[in-house]
Amino acid sequence: MLPETAPFPADQIVALDRIISGSSAEQRTWLSGFLAGYQAANTPQPAVVAAPARRVPLTVLFATESGNAEALADAARKAAGRLGFAARLLDMADATPGQIAGAQNLLVIASTWGEGDPPQRAIDFFSALMADDAPRLEGLRYAVLALGDRAYAKFCETGRIFDERFAALGATRVAERIECDLDYEAPAATWIDGALGVLHAEAGEPEAGAVIHVDFARAATDGAAWTRTRPFEAEITERVRLSGSRSTSDTWHVELSLAGSGIEYEPGDSLGFVPTNDPALADAVLHASGLGGNTQLRAKLLDQYDITTLTREPRREGWQVIDMLEAERRQWAEDELLSLLRPLAPRYYSVASSRKAVPDEAHLLIAAVRYEALGRERKGVASVDVAERRKAADRLRVFLKPNMHFRLPGDADRPIIMIGPGTGVAPFRAFMQERDAVGARGRNWLLFGHRNYTHDFLYQLEWQDLLKRGVLTRLDVAFSRDQPQKRYVQHALWEARHDLHAWVQDGAVIYVCGDANAMAKDVHAMLQRILGENGKDGAAALDALRREGRYLRDVY
Ligand SMILES: Cc1cc2nc3c(=O)[nH]c(=O)nc-3n(C[C@H](O)[C@H](O)[C@H](O)COP(=O)(O)OP(=O)(O)OC[C@H]3O[C@@H](n4cnc5c(N)ncnc54)[C@H](O)[C@@H]3O)c2cc1C
Ligand SMILES: NC(=O)c1ccc[n+]([C@@H]2O[C@H](COP(=O)([O-])OP(=O)(O)OC[C@H]3O[C@@H](n4cnc5c(N)ncnc54)[C@H](OP(=O)(O)O)[C@@H]3O)[C@@H](O)[C@H]2O)c1
Ligand SMILES: Cc1cc2nc3c(=O)[nH]c(=O)nc-3n(C[C@H](O)[C@H](O)[C@H](O)COP(=O)(O)O)c2cc1C
Repeated sequence: MLPETAPFPADQIVALDRIISGSSAEQRTWLSGFLAGYQAANTPQPAVVAAPARRVPLTVLFATESGNAEALADAARKAAGRLGFAARLLDMADATPGQIAGAQNLLVIASTWGEGDPPQRAIDFFSALMADDAPRLEGLRYAVLALGDRAYAKFCETGRIFDERFAALGATRVAERIECDLDYEAPAATWIDGALGVLHAEAGEPEAGAVIHVDFARAATDGAAWTRTRPFEAEITERVRLSGSRSTSDTWHVELSLAGSGIEYEPGDSLGFVPTNDPALADAVLHASGLGGNTQLRAKLLDQYDITTLTREPRREGWQVIDMLEAERRQWAEDELLSLLRPLAPRYYSVASSRKAVPDEAHLLIAAVRYEALGRERKGVASVDVAERRKAADRLRVFLKPNMHFRLPGDADRPIIMIGPGTGVAPFRAFMQERDAVGARGRNWLLFGHRNYTHDFLYQLEWQDLLKRGVLTRLDVAFSRDQPQKRYVQHALWEARHDLHAWVQDGAVIYVCGDANAMAKDVHAMLQRILGENGKDGAAALDALRREGRYLRDVY
């Protein structure tokens, strides 16, 4: 047992935080590291639990698209291991219900995507579990943690369906399902503690009831210094609008200095960005709730709360917080207003550079989200923060979000096919910088699409230079609005299908990045169609590629 030390006094933490924010980047890094280290060393440690003589098996099964459920599942596995379970981690992408039927103890951690759908790689498992011939699950003790986003109508739908289906198949629910919003870390960690405690007790272990603690933040970031609650303040060294002046889109190339941060991203990773709300919207919210002039509340609304997403009824079509406040004009109490708002969530941006080409920098490609609804102009919180309010030498609060499922092949000779319309092209710039820097010999094929050739050909000169130097082997483009009929990347794919077959035969890895709602689904269908030519089962062929790690997606 570690000796308990006195906790670090709260006022000194605040003082250190002030010192941190008033110092240089390097000083901040050092001080922040020191503070984190000190706090970690002085946080009372959980009681050490002796491993039981008989190691009870426990499976942590996860369904993920962008890695949150996987990181949580890994933290749960580690906590279970510390409790003495023989714990294993299982990706639903690699699992069958038959395998689960043989398990005794199961934690399921599943996110919801699309419009209430399972993550793409979990669809086979999901379908098999819902089928009439799904195996019975008597003898299985389980609990479900659902991840989602309250902004979506079908909040945590996949987790809910899994929970109900496991029960219907005869499994015993040992803990009530938890449905987590985007600020899932703390509730998830508490829930995992509780669920493992129950499973531990039910397993009849001698230490039943022992308290464990899941340190999700630490487990998830694997010791990284910078997290969503303690981001690195990266200086903007360059900020360029890539869309032409007559473009209908507004896309920015942003270069950040990571000097002193120790952030070591790999091509395929994203950076989390902690944005600041639009001051005009914060003022409108204050005014509409009768709280205008409350400067402390204004500061909270700018930095801490999501002041757009309406997470409670009435949630009429397209309504945001401001619409509800304006419709119900009355005096609100500060606490009442804040109880309506969820914490401001970070947004993620694919890193568009390689450290081998630009050490100490990370480049991002950010498209401003703007649209009109109910007679009001709506602005994306983070993207418009960057597009309208940030300038060179300002700082962005960032942290690393690794994506182990979207990496260049280890074999530098292997060909790759990159399908990335719009901002989906960002990670492929990183891939090409990396392959160029290491002199990789594998062939590289990029399919890029956007609205208009003259205004929206993002990084056009760079692609042309890479082509000229033979680094990029092939570039196919699809500009959707240059002709009366829409032309998309999947149409370019169809036209190039004979070469696609040949590249796949040669072992190519296919990558897709960008919009999840429409593009990724249509490209998926097109790949199935192409692979299904000549009477083959295209869906099975694409699934086989996915299982081999040769069909990788990063979609949002
Ligand atoms: C792993 C990952 C990588 C990403 N990489 C990139 C990247 O490289 N570049 C990039 O630009 N983005 C990227 N994104 C998307 C990015 O994280 C943000 O979601 C995006 O910038 C919008 O955030 P925002 O705060 O500006 O908008 P928000 O304030 O979050 O508003 C977006 C919401 O507005 C609504 N909306 C948007 N358009 C309309 C419309 N026409 N009609 C009605 N409602 C609408 C939708 O509900 C949408 O969810 C990535 C996302 C993920 C998860
Ligand atoms: N509803 C949403 O919330 C939504 C949807 C898409 C993108 N976004 C967000 O908007 C921002 C900008 O996106 P972006 O710059 O990456 O560009 P984008 O809006 O994804 O568009 C890039 C290109 O893809 C085309 N496209 C549209 N539908 C397609 C489909 N079904 N299949 C293939 N291509 C298709 C677009 O054509 P056309 O526009 O001419 O049809 C355009 O040429 C991002 O932040 C993204 O997350 C939000
Ligand atoms: C394109 C997209 C669609 C989503 N659809 C839903 C949804 O229908 N319901 C929901 O509760 N959450 C939805 N989410 C939120 C995710 O479930 C949430 O971000 C979750 O933390 C992701 O976990 P993962 O990284 O393990 O996939 C969606 C997120 C994105 C980016």
